[in-house]
Amino acid sequence: MQRLAGQVAVITGGASGIGAATVRKFVAEGARVVIADMQAEMGQALADEIGAAAVFQKTDVTEEAQVKAAVDAAVETFGGLNCIFNNAGFGGAAGPIESITVEDYTLTMDVLVKGVFLGIKHAAPILKAQKSGTIINTSSVAALYSGISPTFYNAAKAAVMQMTKSLALEFGYYGVRVNCVNPGFIATPLAAGRPGASDQTLDKMRETMAEGEVMGRIGNPEEIADAVLWLASDESSFVNGHALVVDGGRMAGLPYQQQTSWLKKPREIQLYRPEGR
Ligand SMILES: NC(=O)c1ccc[n+]([C@@H]2O[C@H](COP(=O)([O-])OP(=O)(O)OC[C@H]3O[C@@H](n4cnc5c(N)ncnc54)[C@H](O)[C@@H]3O)[C@@H](O)[C@H]2O)c1
Repeated sequence: MQRLAGQVAVITGGASGIGAATVRKFVAEGARVVIADMQAEMGQALADEIGAAAVFQKTDVTEEAQVKAAVDAAVETFGGLNCIFNNAGFGGAAGPIESITVEDYTLTMDVLVKGVFLGIKHAAPILKAQKSGTIINTSSVAALYSGISPTFYNAAKAAVMQMTKSLALEFGYYGVRVNCVNPGFIATPLAAGRPGASDQTLDKMRETMAEGEVMGRIGNPEEIADAVLWLASDESSFVNGHALVVDGGRMAGLPYQQQTSWLKKPREIQLYRPEGR
């Protein structure tokens, strides 16, 4: 039995990286998918590759009418909506605070926070009325830990996590679950800092970033897609308002190789050893 048999999903940011991997996983598990992204060429190519189970809808998630059109496309093309994965994103404004313009701040928050709000807003009437469905948002480990991403990216991803929890309370009453996934460092164009980054660039990044990671490697988009698939499926039927960290252990603490040397050496207990122990 396929895990999303008969389901219809909208996936924002579905043309690349985590979104594209999720599109593939969802379709392989029986779902039909609207790929909602502003990168038309890549999104259309993915839809063409998949065939009848996917359509591309050019969408800028900061534009309410376009987000509504993506949800409408799910209903018109596939006859309904069961899941929305609000995943579109970018790095946003970076640099010292005095260098950030209000325009760049606003764009950052619009893509990363307003985009999620709009996706949920326009999925809500359908999911609430049918009293079933799942909403999954992409937050980040940046919601939990600073110093690895720009300030307003961190702030936006924390907002997405809190929005997820708050709305889980509202939607739970209707039998609709709202969760988010908090990826660690994943090999995608966003992490490489370049839209459409080549496979060679991603491989180079895998190589250079491996050392700072607990598992000696960064993650792959498919490993986040697996978590999203689980959150969308009935296997997570009592999981609601949850922020699922998928980071290879990065939020657990310092990678072993970076821990202080005395933690890594075999050492006898020397202090305050009670008699006989
Ligand atoms: N890669 C990582 O290390 C990492 C870690 C944590 C969280 N994330 C989050 O994962 C999500 C997916 O990113 P990714 O890593 O797969 O990067 P990606 O660049 O491969 O994919 C992001 C997609 O979002 C789309 N997008 C950007 N702005 C948009 C807009 N205004 N409207 C519609 N689509 C838009 C892009 O066109 C792209 O296809 C993002 O929300 C990102 O913040 C990524």
